[in-house]
Amino acid sequence: MALWGGRFTQEADARFKSFNDSLVFDYRMAKEDIEGSIGWAKAIASVGIITNDELTRLLAALQELLAEVNKDPHSIANAGFEDIHSYVESKLIDKVGDLGKKLHTGRSRNDQVATDLKLWCKAQVKILLQSITGLEKVLVGFAGNHFDTVIPGYTHLQRAQPVTFGHWAMAYVEMFDRDYHRLTNCQKMMDTCPLGSAALAGTAYPIDREILAGDLGFARATRNSLDSVSDRDHVLELLSCASISMVHLSRMAEDIIFYNSGESAFFELSDKVTSGSSLMPQKKNPDACELIRGKSGRVFGSLMGMLATLKGLPLAYNKDMQEDKEGLFDALDTWHDCLDMACLVFEDIKVNKEKTLSAAKGGYSNATELADYLVSKGIPFREAHHIVGETVVYAIKSGKPLEDLQVSEFKQFCDKVEDDVYPILTIESILKKRCAKGGVSLEQIKSAIDFMNNVLSDRS
Ligand code: ARG
Repeated sequence: MALWGGRFTQEADARFKSFNDSLVFDYRMAKEDIEGSIGWAKAIASVGIITNDELTRLLAALQELLAEVNKDPHSIANAGFEDIHSYVESKLIDKVGDLGKKLHTGRSRNDQVATDLKLWCKAQVKILLQSITGLEKVLVGFAGNHFDTVIPGYTHLQRAQPVTFGHWAMAYVEMFDRDYHRLTNCQKMMDTCPLGSAALAGTAYPIDREILAGDLGFARATRNSLDSVSDRDHVLELLSCASISMVHLSRMAEDIIFYNSGESAFFELSDKVTSGSSLMPQKKNPDACELIRGKSGRVFGSLMGMLATLKGLPLAYNKDMQEDKEGLFDALDTWHDCLDMACLVFEDIKVNKEKTLSAAKGGYSNATELADYLVSKGIPFREAHHIVGETVVYAIKSGKPLEDLQVSEFKQFCDKVEDDVYPILTIESILKKRCAKGGVSLEQIKSAIDFMNNVLSDRS
């Protein structure tokens, strides 16, 4: 039975009903709808709409319903009600009869759904913060095991300068740590309770909305009833946090796919997160990473969809806003699964240190060092850059790395080169020199790891 039958003489068309109903997806807010109802029951009791005895009966029935719903939330999805609010109200009426019909006094589904969704978002944020922390811990662990495993660093996908796997992993820790803090900011922004705003103009009963907000675990009540029922900024912000983090996950996945490829072979991913080809028996495909990269698209799509849905909506509530849930639910589920999967990818990952070292040594990634060496001999950097460019062309033609050239060969391009050039061309020297904060020297990497270990151990 619908909540609003009185004004209607005709049955809703079945096709409209299934188009309009949201229970198939908003059943996921059952717990929050009941919690909100518990808060509301107390609020209306505080202004004498129901007696204390009625409140006790309502609370007992709502608690009972909560326990039932928690057993198998998914079973509600196809119960045939218009939405989760209709479902909860109707089940309450089944339990306490006419008393259940008093609960909606002074409340609207507009402030109810806004409250439910914020409660749901707040709970999800807690879970997601844990997932992000979990991935940061995995990456810091990997960085600790490989703080000195040398790999080539790339720009334009060309070998540029050597770095280490520790430094690489800590770069992603920085990204996921920003995601963590971005989400924490979002959590603070959404911590306001819309309940008591009713349909749009505010409830007609003198309820203390600050007490109600506190009761439901919010920092404070919202300040404007029109805004309260039409605000979905928290949905946009969460989708935006999810999208930015999916960019990070996708870029990391892409790096891993490349490192796992036959061409680079720095990684061998475990059998747990790869799959085979139905045709080519030799293949081991990095599906987990490819799916992380692929799924970023649908998360961005949800953000774009929500922005488009909200743009141009007049104040206050419009049914368009029911479209806020499916994209959000899907995006947060996807983000959560991808964070989890990224952790799994690092389990039993094998690193081929010979490959990484020989790749780091190839590709003339010590050319900048030679230029810096010439600068130390008094040659202006721009000129040194040119000399080294010519030397590299010569070395490529001779099929040798720079460190294998004779001093006499270096001297064809610059007579300032002496025997002391060789130590500066080694990987050890290249790393050691980058000792300014954030650089790739092993001391800097270790201190970055220590710093993050401290930060993460303070997080529950
Ligand atoms: N299912 C609706 C939604 O998710 C609940 C609010 C309905 N409000 C209304 N005025 N019809 O937005």
